[in-house]
Amino acid sequence: MSAVSVTLKIATSLDGRIALEDGTSQWITGSDARARSHQLRAAHGAVLVGVGTVLADDPLLTARSVPLPPIQPVRIVMDSAGRTPPESRLVRSTAVGRVAIATAGITAPWLTAEGAEVWNCGEQDGQTEPGRVLERCAVEGISSLMVEGGGKVAASFLKAGLVDRIEWFRAPILIGGDGLAAIGPLQLSAIAGATRWQAVATERIGDDVLESYVRVK
Ligand SMILES: NC(=O)c1ccc[n+]([C@@H]2O[C@H](COP(=O)([O-])OP(=O)(O)OC[C@H]3O[C@@H](n4cnc5c(N)ncnc54)[C@H](OP(=O)(O)O)[C@@H]3O)[C@@H](O)[C@H]2O)c1
Repeated sequence: MSAVSVTLKIATSLDGRIALEDGTSQWITGSDARARSHQLRAAHGAVLVGVGTVLADDPLLTARSVPLPPIQPVRIVMDSAGRTPPESRLVRSTAVGRVAIATAGITAPWLTAEGAEVWNCGEQDGQTEPGRVLERCAVEGISSLMVEGGGKVAASFLKAGLVDRIEWFRAPILIGGDGLAAIGPLQLSAIAGATRWQAVATERIGDDVLESYVRVK
């Protein structure tokens, strides 16, 4: 078991889509659910997205909860080659809280020059290794991480068996099979190989539903 507990947070349509085919995802859930997401961020030591999400949404990833957390969670980007734009809202907001670019070994001076940290987290199949990100979190004193997507990064953490809990916000809309799946390919060859999750809570939040699951070991 990792020293860092990992929560996967996803906001989807009823049919499990996180975005339209063109990548548009704002906003699938309503304002109450989004406020809850900010509370969840505030309750974690770090939040993490893939560079695909940074390029699509230019998110700030701060916890804008009431009350604000005394310290912002460290904002981490899985970004093997340092494609995070130096002019992104993330990199431009390092005065508000730490931003770490978790690379597959490159140093990305164009990002450190702007105040972001660059973590060399090793390479696995050409990409940043999720387990090494958790190791670095532990070294930094971070004990809880919330993975916020997108689908490729969610799949990587799931495939590596690193997710302990899922917070799944479901909005009462249908996007259809041309939308982006919440979880990227897991390459299962048998249903028996699927990870199992136990529902531990269900809550209506505005028009949306939040389902919480823990991993069945
Ligand atoms: N509704 C929601 O909850 C939600 C949340 C987040 C995002 N989204 C949507 O999801 C879409 C983006 O999702 P996405 O799946 O295309 O991208 P993503 O998961 O955000 O980022 C994927 C990229 O991260 C980098 N990466 C580095 N290490 C990785 C690893 N070990 N595993 C996987 N990726 C790694 C890769 O780029 P490099 O090879 O260059 O490193 C990869 O292409 C956007 O449309 C966004 O709006 C929705």
